[in-house]
Amino acid sequence: MLDQPNGSGQLVWPTDDFTRTPYEVYASDRIFAREQEKIFNGPTWVILGIECEVAEPGSFSCSCVGTTPVVLSRGEDGELFAFVNKCAHRGARVVRELRGRSMTHTCLYHGWVYGTNGDLKAAPLSNGLMGQGGYPEGFRTEDHCLQKLQVDTHAGIVFGSLHPSPPSLHDYLGDAVRDRLSTICHSPLKVWGYQRQTMACNWKLFMENTRDMYHAPMLHAFATKYGLVNPTKQQHALRFENDGAHQVYSTIEMDRDADGKAASGGALESPLKLEDPRVAEGVGELPDGLYVNIISIFPATLFTVAANTLSFRQVRPISPGKCETVYTWFQYEDDDEEMHERRVMQSNLFGPGGYVAMEDAEVMESTQKSIARGYEAGSTFVEMGGGSIAEENHPVTEASVRSFWKNYCKYMDIPTPSAQAAE
Ligand SMILES: [Fe+2]
Repeated sequence: MLDQPNGSGQLVWPTDDFTRTPYEVYASDRIFAREQEKIFNGPTWVILGIECEVAEPGSFSCSCVGTTPVVLSRGEDGELFAFVNKCAHRGARVVRELRGRSMTHTCLYHGWVYGTNGDLKAAPLSNGLMGQGGYPEGFRTEDHCLQKLQVDTHAGIVFGSLHPSPPSLHDYLGDAVRDRLSTICHSPLKVWGYQRQTMACNWKLFMENTRDMYHAPMLHAFATKYGLVNPTKQQHALRFENDGAHQVYSTIEMDRDADGKAASGGALESPLKLEDPRVAEGVGELPDGLYVNIISIFPATLFTVAANTLSFRQVRPISPGKCETVYTWFQYEDDDEEMHERRVMQSNLFGPGGYVAMEDAEVMESTQKSIARGYEAGSTFVEMGGGSIAEENHPVTEASVRSFWKNYCKYMDIPTPSAQAAE
């Protein structure tokens, strides 16, 4: 059992090929705490936003890395900073608005004032009052800054790391992720909205879901029933990066017109029709014609391009049985009004109010209930496509789920049985 000392006190994964996942990892408090330490405070990168969200000096945007609240901030000279949103004095939340613009951030509790880079600028009453009290001699504001994150960008997307010396973002993302992000973010971006979805499930159930394409025809049967997708008319491509930590999944519609204006899989005849087909009427727009792109970046960043909806999601663990995903919907700065309306309309299908996200959440929440009831024993069965972790050009495989767990074990220092035996 994973969460039990096995003689050496070490955790061991059930199989060498990651075709089993112990239910316990979705429900254990101990595992959850270890994830915060080893993964979210470890040498990983998490998305913090798009540069355009913090365009002006003093602009800021609040989010999370794991359970740690963080602030992305544009400094006075245009540089990007990120810091933990926890006062260096007594731990209060410093920035209390989700987004805004301010050249200083003042803690509500005792008035400590921080600059746009997270440095402490002033601490009230540090010299006491009328000769009494105050901080000891030797108190220096520069010793009490907000904890800073490493920050780097690719194609206008901002990532942060709580680790003091993570790998470079360039190396961490790898060629396939960088190329895909560059293609999607090919011209200046503009954010048009945010949504959030809280789910009563472990955050890893959601990350698995984003890396498992073969559930779609069963769970999301409405898409074929209403003729929105024709599974026989799509080409699939799956690429891994960073030793399988990240997934780059794409489809291309084979029946598109030369101008890219055929509806997704529109060739599928179906007696059922949507009342308002505009929610699914996409036009081709990426230069390589890829219609669906799901980039899942370990541990908890997701980029989704589905038809004309462009979004990234930050996945925030809250507790072993609860997580939140925050959608940031974006478009191109030079979109005309028609294209903007198209994106907003389609977000009704692909966002948290649409069938896809609701059906996924329904399954993940019910899974959490069933596995948390008896999590001390048992494991999942992840053998679709065999036991390999190979890039395949079809969706009928759980290779990407296996590669997630392989990397999970790497970051968590959880050995496989054979690695344990070799010790
Ligand atoms: Fe799904």
